[in-house]
Amino acid sequence: MNDAQYSNDTTVLRGALVGCGFFAANQMRAWQDLPGAEIVALCDRDAGRLSAFGDTFGIEHRFDDIETLLTQMAVDFVDIAAPTPAHEMLVTAAARYGADVICQKPFAGSLETARRLIETCRERGVSLTVHENFRWQHAVRRVAELIAQGRIGRPFFGRISYRSGFDVFANQPYLADLPRFIIQDLGIHTLDMARALFGDVERLSCETGRVNLKIRGEDTATMMLRHECGCVSVVDCSYATTLANDPFPQSLIEVDGDRGSLRLSANFRLTIHAPDGGATIEDVTPHWPSWSEAPWRVIQQSVLALQEDWIDRCRSGGEAPTCGRDNFNTLALVDAAYRSADEEAVVVPARWQ
Ligand SMILES: NC(=O)c1ccc[n+]([C@@H]2O[C@H](COP(=O)([O-])OP(=O)(O)OC[C@H]3O[C@@H](n4cnc5c(N)ncnc54)[C@H](O)[C@@H]3O)[C@@H](O)[C@H]2O)c1
Repeated sequence: MNDAQYSNDTTVLRGALVGCGFFAANQMRAWQDLPGAEIVALCDRDAGRLSAFGDTFGIEHRFDDIETLLTQMAVDFVDIAAPTPAHEMLVTAAARYGADVICQKPFAGSLETARRLIETCRERGVSLTVHENFRWQHAVRRVAELIAQGRIGRPFFGRISYRSGFDVFANQPYLADLPRFIIQDLGIHTLDMARALFGDVERLSCETGRVNLKIRGEDTATMMLRHECGCVSVVDCSYATTLANDPFPQSLIEVDGDRGSLRLSANFRLTIHAPDGGATIEDVTPHWPSWSEAPWRVIQQSVLALQEDWIDRCRSGGEAPTCGRDNFNTLALVDAAYRSADEEAVVVPARWQ
């Protein structure tokens, strides 16, 4: 859709949700909370999931294939919550029918495919937004805001840490079979937060490990990033960490600047350390969506925030912060991290030109 078709328009945007699995329920609940958009059709290849999801959320129009959906229903956008191997076909089909696209992460299985999808959407005049929600967490946005305001001066060090022993395989059993696990599934979010806070990355090194021998891929990753602004950040992830008070699924953040420091600790406690030795503590607990539930609340809040922003930008004609071109550079960090771990080398990530 052209921006002009949305501007100053209060029509409710009609969307199709594709993929009715584990995570799609969060996207569906968020759309149901937002008056500016409505999911009018569902698509899933699995008849049982399609029917259960449709009944739960009261969506009448259900399809087992995207082409049939797009020929029979007029939609403004397609929200893709199917896994990555299906993305190329689904994004291309949506673009061909002139629908704006929102696509789950990782939005492509390779940088070549990512380039192709960005170009396809550009040629068809539709927007491509990656559903990269972690930077939309309320506490992360507050950290970004304080940095942008210069509250701690120039950041020279950052740490984004996500360490947990939560059994993610219970809800997403397919994760245990992925040859590449934690960087591709979770690190992609924490790397994106590092980009959102400190900007693009000049070089990166990464060490990985597999502690849980029942799974195929790596479950720990420690990455060091040199950002263009000169800041160095450490992005560390683990699903093999035993903690009495597991912060799952919170990310903990440290930022040192030349005029102060920030510490985001568990339970949404943000401490701002000033050069005079004083400290201010902010409670950055979000306003939880009514439908949110522990332990997923922090994720569900960020899903709602991303989708709300997406509707606002459709109306104003702006591009989402996690548009395909921006997210290409996050995907490139994932690619660089695996290359660094494999080659035991510092890697210069690809960059969208
Ligand atoms: N942003 C986040 O915080 C977050 C969290 C979890 C998962 N995800 C992402 O969401 C996506 C889905 O993950 P999930 O855990 O919900 O997976 P899932 O396996 O539970 O659900 C995926 C659904 O997509 C359907 N599907 C597959 N191919 C399809 C096709 N061609 N057409 C229609 N339907 C198709 C499957 O039948 C299934 O019902 C993945 O890309 C994953 O990385 C994101």
